[in-house]
Amino acid sequence: MTYIIIGGSSGLGRALAEKFAAQGCELVLVSRDARDTGALAADLTIRHGVAVTPVAMDLAGSPLPFDALDSVLGNHAPLKGLLLPAGVNDDADKVGLSAEKLAFLSRVNYLAPCELLNHYLPLLEKNSGVIIGFGSVATARGRSRNAAYAAAKNALASYFQSLAHYAAGRGISCQYYVLGYLDTNLAFSQTLLFPSASPGRVADAVYRNRFRNGRFFLPRPWYILYRIVQLLPWAVFRRLTF
Ligand SMILES: NC(=O)c1ccc[n+]([C@@H]2O[C@H](COP(=O)([O-])OP(=O)(O)OC[C@H]3O[C@@H](n4cnc5c(N)ncnc54)[C@H](OP(=O)(O)O)[C@@H]3O)[C@@H](O)[C@H]2O)c1
Repeated sequence: MTYIIIGGSSGLGRALAEKFAAQGCELVLVSRDARDTGALAADLTIRHGVAVTPVAMDLAGSPLPFDALDSVLGNHAPLKGLLLPAGVNDDADKVGLSAEKLAFLSRVNYLAPCELLNHYLPLLEKNSGVIIGFGSVATARGRSRNAAYAAAKNALASYFQSLAHYAAGRGISCQYYVLGYLDTNLAFSQTLLFPSASPGRVADAVYRNRFRNGRFFLPRPWYILYRIVQLLPWAVFRRLTF
């Protein structure tokens, strides 16, 4: 069975590629530049004996060019899953962001994952497949920082809720992970209030749970913080600068 990993070149996507390949899954790894995933694909094939194909696709483009991705699937075992760990943030992301950056963050974090999901939904429905999305604890409550990123991830979470409703009784497994800090490039320039988790451990949990349905927090203690932030009185929350 084959899994597509959108954002398979680094961070969590790379850890998912390592985990799923080690378990014998064929993979299609998508990122902006196939050279970044090409070396990883060759390495996974040698070490785990599974077919892994790199494909270049820029999620910022509209409409998404599906031809290359669709055509490599013809050389793989049937499609079983779509994993969507791709995401991007921007240090300049505050309320008042430029239209160009607002559109970019919305496309990569929300619109493109939904377009991919919609495109492969019929095939995944036919194959009793798995669709896995990834959000962020930054969505707990809107703040001046990460405004567009959090809005886009909230929209993605809502779309996944609709997907779960659609998928019920249709044989599709659908999961949405709300992630705390991860030890990856994306968190590199951020001010982190808590320790970051290893992407490998998150990938292990995602693999283990891949046929479950629902929304999960990883690492799990972040749920408590997420709820605390939501419940803070406005008079307190408005003074926070994180
Ligand atoms: N890191 C954290 O602390 C943290 C916290 C909460 C939630 N998350 C979420 O967890 C997920 C994984 O994050 P991560 O830390 O693993 O990120 P990462 O290391 O920065 O990796 C992001 C992946 O997305 C791909 N990507 C970004 N923009 C793209 C575009 N325009 N077109 C195609 N691919 C694109 C990147 O590929 P290329 O750049 O090679 O094209 C890369 O493979 C994201 O959805 C993120 O929002 C992360």
